[in-house]
Formats: sequence, C-alpha cells, structure tokens
Amino acid sequence: MASPANKHEFFIALFLALSVFRMTSAGDPDITSDFVVPPNVTAVDGNFFTFTGMRALMSMDLPMAFKVTKASVAEFPALVGQSVSMAVLEFSAGSVNPPHTHPRASELLFLLYGSLEVGVVDTTNKLFTQTLQSGDMFAFPKGLVHYQYNANETDIAISISAFGSASAGLVSLPASVFTTGIDSGILAKSFKTNVSTIEALKLGLTPPKA
Ligand SMILES: *[C@@H]1O[C@H](CO)[C@@H](O)[C@H](O)[C@H]1NC(C)=O
Ligand SMILES: *[C@@H]1O[C@H](CO)[C@@H](O)[C@H](O)[C@H]1NC(C)=O
Ligand SMILES: *[C@@H]1O[C@H](CO)[C@@H](O)[C@H](O)[C@H]1NC(C)=O
Repeated sequence: MASPANKHEFFIALFLALSVFRMTSAGDPDITSDFVVPPNVTAVDGNFFTFTGMRALMSMDLPMAFKVTKASVAEFPALVGQSVSMAVLEFSAGSVNPPHTHPRASELLFLLYGSLEVGVVDTTNKLFTQTLQSGDMFAFPKGLVHYQYNANETDIAISISAFGSASAGLVSLPASVFTTGIDSGILAKSFKTNVSTIEALKLGLTPPKA
C-alpha cells in the first residue's frame, strides 16, 4: 500500500505526465528536423519561407461577399510540421462566415478593420458572443462551432486569423449537412421538419470548394 506521501508524489507525477502529453498533443505531430522540404523542391532559400499569396489583397477592391484567403500548408508548403497557419477574412457589409468548426486547431482572430459579431458554442451548447472592435482579438477553442458576422450595413470588416495547425481543416455546418448528399428524409427527421423544407435548404446552398 502506498503511504499518503507516496500517493501525493504519484499524483504529481501523473499530473506532470498528463501536462506533457497535453503539450505534445496540442498541435500537429512534431517533426525531427528544423523544417520539411517537399520532394519537388530542389533549392531552399528565403523564398521557400515566404508566402506572397496575400499581396493581391493589399491592392484589391472592397470585398463583395465574405471571402477567405488561406495560408495553410496546402498553399504554403514551408508550413509542413510547423503547427501554424493563417487566413485573412474579408467581410462585405452585412456578410456572415456561417457556423463552422476547425477540427485540428484553435483560432486566434485579430480584427484589423470594422466591427464583427462573433459567437462560439461549447460542448454543453452554451453560446458565448461578443461584438469586436478593430484592434480586438477573440480566441475560438479547437473544434468548437463558431461564426463571425459583419452587422454593419455600409462598411466592410477585415480580420486575420492564426491557427495552431498547419492544416486547421474546415467543417462548415450548412455545407457539411446540406450539400453532401445526406438523404433528405434523414435530415427531415433530424431537424424535425418535412422533406420539402430540407429540399429548399439544399437548393440555396452550393457544395464546399475544399
Ligand atoms: C511542388 O508541388 C506542389 C504540389 O503539387 C506545387 O504546388 C508546387 O508548386 C511545386 N513546387 C515546385 C517548386 O515545383
Ligand atoms: C458602421 O456603421 C455605422 C453606421 O450605421 C457607421 O457610423 C460606422 O462608422 C460604420 N463602420 C464601422 C467600421 O464601424
Ligand atoms: C413543410 O413544412 C413547412 C413548415 O412547417 C410547411 O409550411 C409546409 O407546408 C410543409 N410542406 C409539406 C409538403 O408538408
């Protein structure tokens, strides 16, 4: 039998082991080199670590709808194994980024311009909302359903999101549920409505791009 002192030590050791596990499992799997060079890249220089895909945003006209420009591992191969990525979110007046989740990353949103209504729902179905002003940051915990809405009817909003994964992933609830071919009868029962209501919802949505 362990004495109380030993039990105490045991729990401290267990706690430390679990915190280390949490730290190592909080991001993408670790790599055992400084960085990962894709097979088709022959020479690594400063360009490899540079992403220029956002330059176009600097001179572009005002957004006409909600628009995301991503710098994740798919667009920026230097991010392999680095557990980070970013996106620029542009909101036209009155536009919404519909409820969605990022299965592999927490998100830290920085509002650069305008104002934004944000909300996140935890696993007890509690909704947390906020109206952000430019300069504010909001943290969306990993995997939780969230949205952003530019309630301003005349002005745009622009934010930058950082993710704790090179490939945060996107599950957009309207698209995942209504554009992927799930049987309308199943959806009607799930949403406690009839098939024609489900068909109407399906009609108004376009399948996700990626
Ligand atoms: C390497 O392959 C990726 C994916 O096919 C492509 O996007 C990228 O442009 C290629 N890089 C070079 C330097 O050829
Ligand atoms: C939003 O809308 C109001 C008018 O309704 C305006 O006064 C305000 O400056 C707008 N723009 C931003 C960026 O908040
Ligand atoms: C389906 O439900 C909607 C909303 O309750 C209702 O207006 C509509 O008449 C129903 N359609 C059918 C075919 O039952």
